Order: sequence, then C-alpha cells, then structure tokens
Amino acid sequence: MPRIAEILRGALTGQDVELKGWIYRTRTVGGKAFVVIRDSTGVLQVAVSKESVPPEQFEAVEKALIESSVTAKGPIVSDKRAPGGFEMRAKEFHVVSYAEKFPIQQDLSEEFLLDVRHLWVRSQRMTSIFRVRHTVFGAVHDYFRGEGFWEVHPPMITPVGSEGGATLFNVEYFGRKAYLTQSWQLYAEALALAMEKVYYIGPSFRAEKSRTTRHLTEYWHCEMEETWAGMDDVLKHAEHVIEHAARRAAEDNPDDLAFLGRDPEYLKKLRTPFEHITYEEAVRRLKAKGMEFEWGKDLRTFEERALTEGMSQPIVVSRYPRVSQAFYKRRDPANPDLVLGFDVIAPDDVGEVVGGSERETDLEYLKQAIVEFGEDPKNYDWYLDTRRFGNVQHAGFGMGMERLLQWICKLDHIRDAVPFPRTPARFSP
Ligand code: 4AD
Ligand code: MG
Repeated sequence: MPRIAEILRGALTGQDVELKGWIYRTRTVGGKAFVVIRDSTGVLQVAVSKESVPPEQFEAVEKALIESSVTAKGPIVSDKRAPGGFEMRAKEFHVVSYAEKFPIQQDLSEEFLLDVRHLWVRSQRMTSIFRVRHTVFGAVHDYFRGEGFWEVHPPMITPVGSEGGATLFNVEYFGRKAYLTQSWQLYAEALALAMEKVYYIGPSFRAEKSRTTRHLTEYWHCEMEETWAGMDDVLKHAEHVIEHAARRAAEDNPDDLAFLGRDPEYLKKLRTPFEHITYEEAVRRLKAKGMEFEWGKDLRTFEERALTEGMSQPIVVSRYPRVSQAFYKRRDPANPDLVLGFDVIAPDDVGEVVGGSERETDLEYLKQAIVEFGEDPKNYDWYLDTRRFGNVQHAGFGMGMERLLQWICKLDHIRDAVPFPRTPARFSP
C-alpha cells in the first residue's frame, strides 16, 4: 500500500491507488465531498463525487466525522487547487469506523491539548515533530556507530545519584531506598574501561520542580564516554553529532521543519567548530550587557539566553568553577578552582544542550570531592574501583535529546519534543 508522502512526491500520478487512513478534514459542496485523509506521512485530498461512487458510499462520506478511519480507491491526479498539489478521485470509499465528535476543535488552550494529548498526537504539528525526532535519533545512533562507539546500556534503577540529591526521584525498592537514574555517568565510566568508546540513548529522570520551557522530569539522554580521551576530544564529538543530526533533519524532513517554522537552510549552514569561550569570558560578556553575576554560579536560563542572543549557531562555554560542578569532573591542571568541563549552549532560548567533562582520575582527590559534594564515598566504592583497576584518562558528555529537538524544530516549549511530556504539573495521560 502506498503512503501519502509518495503520492505527494508525484511518484504515483495517473495510477489507481488504494489508501487507508483517517479523516483529517471534510467538507461537502453540492454533490461533491472533499475529504482530507491523513496517514503517518502526510495528508491528501480525496474528492468523492455522487456520480463516481455507489449511493451508500456517498452517504457514508457525508455522515463520517473527522478521525473516522476510512479506505479509498481511485486514480491520483495532479491538481493545483488541492493541498500539496495532488488529489485522489475516488471510485470507492469505505468508512471502517465512524468516529464520535472529536473533542479537539479550533483554538483550544495549551492545557486542554495536554489533557487530550493521546488524541493531539495525531495533529500535523505533533506528527511533523515525531518524524524529525525519528530522523534525529537515527542520526545520533549512526554518528556514534560510525565513529566506533559501542552501544551499551546502564540500569534505570540505581543505589546512588551522580548529579546531586536535589533532583533524584525516590523509588521504594522492596523496603529499601533506590532512585531513578539521572545519568548513566557512573556506569558509563565502569563500562568505558570494558569497551573503550561507549554511548547510549535512554531515559533520564530529574525531580526538577522548576517550570521552565526547557525542563522535563523524564527526558531522553544521549550519553557517551571515551577512554584515552580528554575534554577537547569529546567536545569535538559533541559538535559533530549536533551538526550531523541537524543536517540529516534538514535533508530528510525539510517540509516538516518548514511547517514548524525552522528554515532547513539554517540547519544546513551550521559549521563546526562552534565559537568557544571560557566561563570567565561568559561572565565578562554578561557583565558587559549590564547583568549582575556572581562568579562561581552556574549559568541560568536567562543568562544562557543573553549569551546566545542573536547568534545563528550554538556556543561552547568551558572551564567552569569547581564549586558549582559534579564531583567526577577533573580539576583544571592550570587552575584548581576550575574543572575541565564544558556546555554546548544553543540559541533560540533553548540553552544548554550538552554538558560534558574530562573525569577526575586521582582516587584520593575523587573521594574528597565526593565528601565535598555531600555524599558518602562508601556508597560509591564500586565506582571508585574504576580508579583502582586500570585507571586511565577518560571523558564524556550527556546531550538532552528533547533540547536538541527543541532547537532543531524551533519549538517554544520542550514538551512538544516528546509525545507524552512529563513535567512537575502532570504525568498523564
Ligand atoms: O548537564 P547534565 O546534568 O550532565 C550529566 O548528567 C552528565 N552526567 C552527562 C555526562 O557527562 N554523561 O545533563 C546533560 C544534559 C543537559 O545538557 C541537558 O541537555 C539535558 O541533559 N538535561 C535535561 N533535558 C531536559 N529536561 C531536564 N530536566 C534536563 N536536565 C538535563
Ligand atoms: Mg549541565
């Protein structure tokens, strides 16, 4: 069975085609019905006239409401008046299931659309995003596999966190305390000593109460870890994987991107390396804009926004003060107050897309950093074995897939980058 995208490419013009789908829009004018049908690839207008189908089929067309499931058969013609430039002239039209009155009509509030998300996922907006998401996930897998990384998988239920207790979700694990993973970090370091270059894409969980346009409580995290590598090595991968995913989306989904308001040419024009600045320089730029900023603090949403204002590419900020950073990040040998860590910050109000660092390899120093982080090194003993057995310089990063998609698709809010968003305010449907 052909898909609508093929028809819209003109590949089936003049041929008789059978189509299965759902009514997206319908209107009847006199003895003629124009039924716009959707499948997973797009929408196509099907013209049904009283003379060309049996009477009971025309009655069915007139009766069927939107989201009824239907089949239609007939030749494809090129017609400038039809949306997309092609139309089916039906010789047969069957209603498989008559839909009830669809609750989603014009001009509904964001909140209502979230309540009926299980139906809203059928919209042109959401299906466009899903197609880009499909491309971007595939591109990220292809990138790492092409670079010789092994895909390996960490557990989701964990005894300790790596990014700080404040954002851990508790799990009651048969009477014991466990957490949902924030990051594969600790497992990645263990696995890298087995497999050298590793990556994965999977869910991470953050009990983040902040209601912003870029935080989810459950998001898809692409993470990589590499042995015999330092900060600059993995930073290159971060830039290249972003460039690769953006270009692939522009090539494979130009119409979806244009529909969402992102010019595919913008994504094709990206050039790596992006601009690289230090934290120090970032602070200087913020102050030059008249913003107050306390040295040592992490960059917040509005500061990232100010830094990337008017930029057409992401920017890299590196060498953050150690005080605001996770324990495993390596001290900068040139300045022990800093860590060899970096963020890739995207424009268009998206902010930090990637966070990464070189890892501390000094066992005693690492133990002390865990204490300073407010944790008990005893709980991390298995992790510390990575420094006892075959210790070697390694580095890695984590990239929020929805943040990446938010930027690629130019979405106002991160919640549309995922089919069923999880935020502090809602976890249903
Ligand atoms: O900067 P983060 O917290 O870094 C880590 O978890 C490291 N252990 C990664 C590593 O080195 N393997 O998170 C990494 C990325 C962020 O840059 C951001 O893109 C995304 O994960 N992220 C979120 N995305 C959506 N909602 C949230 N609440 C997010 N928190 C982090
Ligand atoms: Mg971060």
